[in-house]
Amino acid sequence: MRNIAFATFIAVFIGLGYWFIAPKFSGHQQSMPMGSSIVAVQLPPDFSEQALIGRSKFEANCAACHGTNAVGKDGIGPPLVHVIYEPNHHGDESFQLAAAQGVRQHHWSFGNMPAVQGITRDEVSAIITYIRELQRANGIN
Ligand code: HEC
Repeated sequence: MRNIAFATFIAVFIGLGYWFIAPKFSGHQQSMPMGSSIVAVQLPPDFSEQALIGRSKFEANCAACHGTNAVGKDGIGPPLVHVIYEPNHHGDESFQLAAAQGVRQHHWSFGNMPAVQGITRDEVSAIITYIRELQRANGIN
């Protein structure tokens, strides 16, 4: 009889211990599948002409990693419509540098960004206009 009580006690003890510890090891937070968008982005009522040029350049050169409308792709590229990339923290030149030289992983854990081949400064300027208009439509100034 005492053995059964003891065994029950041990079983409950292990069960509770597992319940307590398991979430820390099971990748509990990784509920988002790879590639899903990281933020929700509101579009402005309309874009300037320069931003529309930037949008098509962004879709061709950047959206594969940064997502359509720069919403980010989990595990691949960060959302650029994000307070981290507001003009005071990441000025326009940091976009030019990112495209020309690539970026070492530092804010996220998605690896390095490679330099973008065959894009001009003017095209990146148009992309910056597009991203800034998206940012402003989402209260990021
Ligand atoms: C192959 C994937 C990939 C492509 C293509 C890509 N990026 Fe990135 N980009 C990343 C990743 C990953 C980071 C995050 C690095 C970090 O901070 O950890 C990043 C970061 C950035 C940053 C932040 C730079 C900084 O100083 O922190 C900017 C700006 C940026 N990208 C702009 C662009 C633009 C503009 C394009 C297209 C012309 C582009 N990216 C194309 C993956 C990509």
